[in-house]
Amino acid sequence: MNHLKWRLALLCFLNLSLLAGCASDNEEDLNPKPTDCDTSAVTFSGTVNAILQANGCKNCHAAASASGGVILDSHAEVKKRADDGRLLGAITHASGYTPMPLGGTKLSDCDIAKVKKWIDNGTPNN
Ligand code: HEC
Repeated sequence: MNHLKWRLALLCFLNLSLLAGCASDNEEDLNPKPTDCDTSAVTFSGTVNAILQANGCKNCHAAASASGGVILDSHAEVKKRADDGRLLGAITHASGYTPMPLGGTKLSDCDIAKVKKWIDNGTPNN
């Protein structure tokens, strides 16, 4: 009888530690560390242009059908919108700007950080 009690106690203890293990795993997934976002090698062609492509920006902002007069199909045009602050205002959903992508999901924090980094670097054509 005593023996059984100990086994039950041990089983409970193991269950608790398993549950605790799961809980802390989930917490890490929900709160990715900022270091998960690598902005060290940001370029126009490989990073910023790729983000605009992947998020459908180019569909609505091609030269032939420039929504809101904003064209995002070349370095010179994207630079123009970076320089006048509208690119960052739109993707960060800042007040005073129309949030982009229109009708779509906001860019990830990491993508926004990469676009910011490119602007901080002086919007190079690289
Ligand atoms: C479904 C079409 C559509 C998509 C997709 C889209 N846009 Fe737009 N965008 C528009 C329209 C329409 C306007 C003009 C809105 C207005 O004048 O209020 C606009 C305006 C803008 C502006 C000017 C905003 C301002 O307040 O001055 C910027 C910058 C911009 N878009 C960038 C982007 C970027 C970057 C993406 C991708 C992340 C994107 N857009 C995706 C349709 C779109």
